[in-house]
Amino acid sequence: MKHRTTAILTTLALTLSPILGACGSLSVPVAESRSDISTGDRPMTNEDLKWWQDTIAYEIYVKSFKDSDGDGYGDINGIISELDHLKRLGVGAIWLTPCYVSPQADNGYDIADYYNIDPSYGTMEDMDRLIEEAGKLNIRIIMDLVFNHTSDQNEWFLESASSKDNSKSDWYVWADPREDGSAPTNWRSFFGGSSWEYCESRGQYYLHTFLKEQPDLNWENPEVRKALCDVANFWVKKGVGGFRMDAITYIKKPAEFKDGTPDAGDGLVGIHSMTANTAGILDYLNEFKHTVQDGTDIFTVGEANGVSSKDLPDWVGENGVFDMVFEFGFVDIDLPDESNWCATRAWTLPDFKSIFTASEKTTSQPEINGWYPMFLENHDQPRSISHFLPEGADRVSGGKALGTLLLTMRGTPFLMEGEELGYVNVSWPSIDDYNDISTKNHYKFAIEEGYSEEEALAGVHRFARDSARTPMQWDSSENAGFTEGKPWLPVYDDYKTVNVDSEMADPDSVLNWYIKLSELRSAHRELVDGRYEELFHDDEKIFAYIRENASRKAIVLINFSTESASFDTSVVENAELLISTNDKSQKGTLAPLEAVIYEEVIVSL
Ligand code: GLC
Repeated sequence: MKHRTTAILTTLALTLSPILGACGSLSVPVAESRSDISTGDRPMTNEDLKWWQDTIAYEIYVKSFKDSDGDGYGDINGIISELDHLKRLGVGAIWLTPCYVSPQADNGYDIADYYNIDPSYGTMEDMDRLIEEAGKLNIRIIMDLVFNHTSDQNEWFLESASSKDNSKSDWYVWADPREDGSAPTNWRSFFGGSSWEYCESRGQYYLHTFLKEQPDLNWENPEVRKALCDVANFWVKKGVGGFRMDAITYIKKPAEFKDGTPDAGDGLVGIHSMTANTAGILDYLNEFKHTVQDGTDIFTVGEANGVSSKDLPDWVGENGVFDMVFEFGFVDIDLPDESNWCATRAWTLPDFKSIFTASEKTTSQPEINGWYPMFLENHDQPRSISHFLPEGADRVSGGKALGTLLLTMRGTPFLMEGEELGYVNVSWPSIDDYNDISTKNHYKFAIEEGYSEEEALAGVHRFARDSARTPMQWDSSENAGFTEGKPWLPVYDDYKTVNVDSEMADPDSVLNWYIKLSELRSAHRELVDGRYEELFHDDEKIFAYIRENASRKAIVLINFSTESASFDTSVVENAELLISTNDKSQKGTLAPLEAVIYEEVIVSL
């Protein structure tokens, strides 16, 4: 297959605490088409694309990517040493998980100082060098802005919590106890237990959507909003390429704090249903957009849990508050209740396709003219092969099938480190083997809800965030070349065969498939700027769609099942096979997990 692909590409190329103690190289020439390219329903030209629409983004879980100093934690210098890996994948934007000073209660999503780098990751000089070195390769750094909350060790919170009367007393969400002294409402935090924590020094509770070590900021206060814009502007001045806005749908709280209807045996209700996407939130986000983004070429992508495709016009596009938003409809397709990992539900491929298609359709409407951040994994999600493919699916074929979806949908693909190697979930034997606090709390919650240890552990094996966070596997040496010390989280057992070096050497590896697809996007522009149209919606095995611009039409067909699947060949009647994961690919039939792209030339260039 390698030879056939290479031949096709060549031919084309030729033709074309203690507070509370107190409380790829793009080697294929780009076939540029300049006229009347359409995307969505709107005519678009290549010049219309912004830099971040015509690139691939890659999420680095800083702690797990590459350790340069042997302390067992990934760091910024480690990232600098591996930029070539990203370059050959065609990456133009690196989303760094938070690397600011943090006590690490939630692995950095609890920020104590937005203006400095955590010593375990390096220094501000290292960060400046990363921005510069990546810039030389045309790669921009995307910072993760965690603005719903800070760490309880942030000076802002330390001051706010110290008394009711201080210059930051209103910077967080404080509320009086009920008459009996209990928490103001029955809201459950994302990571389990009440979302209120009592603070002796104020005789009040503060709200925490996540851990108690992550107190929520009070966005009603203009001083808070200004302080956050100042943080963002500090990083814009440093030359970063954009921001991922963490947990951003929770920043606005309801005017009144009221109990909700309990949704589990603990008498609490998930905070998401009480505070997500509260009316008025858009005013704050618009203010942020104009204060930080106007006049720059940075992009923003919001983590928009609770935003559905019908809300998109306000959230993305020319009049939206962000350039893109991550939606979560499809990641929860098998999980009706985020807090309960043991109660899964069955789903079908048409359900899955509908979610993408609805978002895609809404986003691309001419009046929105928005853009989609295509992702299947991130540091909070299971590995996609384990999540979306049938049990027993072959890792290599599955990784290629999902990689094809990721890199050929309309939008900017966001890869999660390791996804390009075809990682699958870890299944460690005991809950004590896991690091992530949310995973531990989900396990505890399941036991409290009456599930057996075995059932609770099965939920952990399916959904634990640790699966996305194990160290990057670079080679087959000890600790997979990630560190010379003891890795903070165990390296997955398969590292001897699943690693960057061995996959680079294997033409049929998942990694080489990703590199080919990335090159294909450069040469076949319809995969970047073409409109999207779903095909064969009711088919339970095949995810198929068209990507078409004025000159070319690509037809992508991916078999999500472990059985062969047939399709109506009329959709590829005038098309040539461009690439397939199966070197005996046949028109009309897909082998188990086969992914294939056909192309029809509409206008010869
Ligand atoms: C986001 C992050 C997640 C973190 C949470 C709290 O969902 O992606 O990792 O735990 O926010 O900041």
